[in-house]
Amino acid sequence: MNILVIGQGGREHALVWKLRQSPRTNDIFCAPGNAGTGLEARNVNIAETDSAELVRLARKNRIELAIVGPEVPLCEGVADALRAADVAVFGPTKEAAELEGSKVFCKQLLQKAKVPTASFHVFEDYDQAISHILANQGPCVVKADGLAAGKGAIVCKNEQEAMAAATRILIDQEFGRAGDRIIIEERLAGPEVSVLALTDGTTIVPLPACQDHKAIFDNDEGPNTGGMGAYCPAPVLQEQQAQMVESDILVPVAHAMRQAKRRFQGVLYAGLMLTPGGPKVLEFNVRFGDPECQPLLMRLKSDLVDVLMATAMGKLAEIELEWDPRPAVCVVMASGGYPGSYKKGVPIRGLEEVAAMPDVKVFHAGTKVEGDRIVTSGGRVLGVTALGNDLASAQARAYEAVQMIQFDGAQYRRDIASKAIGSV
Ligand code: AMP
Ligand code: GLY
Repeated sequence: MNILVIGQGGREHALVWKLRQSPRTNDIFCAPGNAGTGLEARNVNIAETDSAELVRLARKNRIELAIVGPEVPLCEGVADALRAADVAVFGPTKEAAELEGSKVFCKQLLQKAKVPTASFHVFEDYDQAISHILANQGPCVVKADGLAAGKGAIVCKNEQEAMAAATRILIDQEFGRAGDRIIIEERLAGPEVSVLALTDGTTIVPLPACQDHKAIFDNDEGPNTGGMGAYCPAPVLQEQQAQMVESDILVPVAHAMRQAKRRFQGVLYAGLMLTPGGPKVLEFNVRFGDPECQPLLMRLKSDLVDVLMATAMGKLAEIELEWDPRPAVCVVMASGGYPGSYKKGVPIRGLEEVAAMPDVKVFHAGTKVEGDRIVTSGGRVLGVTALGNDLASAQARAYEAVQMIQFDGAQYRRDIASKAIGSV
């Protein structure tokens, strides 16, 4: 069948790579894609939010399955437009995507469904937010309501920082309309873990837990990014807790979404903190995590076309997922200066050498082809992903590959997966 993947990050390259392995796959189109997807699919120069052009492309090329990778097109209704054109779509409707698109909607749904999460208050009015902060001194987290590319949560040590955060979002409008409302919530403590689950709205299939590394520098220092690396499975989530996550978080959320007439189909991604009082939800995303998707798909043995099609068609109960028992580690190589401003168009060397390494795959993110070279074109450039017999060997292999790739200004964390290996 012909398949359309929408997006241009490492997640979309991983999806294309895995879909390509299915005997059911004929052509894969990627809109707009990157240099990596261009090697394994046909890149088409259509913006990921351009519903009308995506529908036209789908009709013209008899697309039978479309996968919407990122949150922005999901929140803008791209999945709805394709579904209305009779394409099977993996990804939630615009209404269901509000679970990520509005943190206020998400928190209110969690509260109603009695799902463990930090206590919170919602403010539109700046003066009321400041009065609340002054009356409840101490650490808290201030969050913009809408989408902010993973940068809309400001963790505050004290009331000064909280007031500054409220000013940045409500007065300076640093996140535009996404900051028309804010949430001020209790600051939790503990290790973080991402639990992604496939759901067709009824059946829920949790995937092995992953751990992301959001901060730009080693030891989780510096500003947050989209994610600098991930590994899977994450042993920090023990079996008993994983069962609790399913029964006390994922099942009630899917149920609450059905009750709210926003039946959810696609990836339910729970960002969790493992507090002394048990796992609590920090946020929900409505798509595969990037970079979590990369180590997950490296380990998936099942046919991804079968899995995504069954989810899209409400037949997930018929699917049994098969995993490579070996762990996977993904190290993100980013442009110098990221998450601030950075140069583009920097040539990347060493990709051919790494392509010959077994159990290693370099997923492209911000890359493009310029003449006969591959150059950088974004903040996160590559996700160098490796399998190993244990986490330590997967980590060693990923870094061996990273060292073979060069581009001017390249930066990456040296400690991806170290927490789980116990060397930090
Ligand atoms: P979010 O976008 O809501 O996932 O937040 C981004 C990051 O901010 C999370 O990965 C956490 O590291 C941190 N964070 C968010 N909410 C809280 C909270 N209530 N307590 C402590 N840290 C938080
Ligand atoms: N890696 C975090 C995210 O995809 O939101």
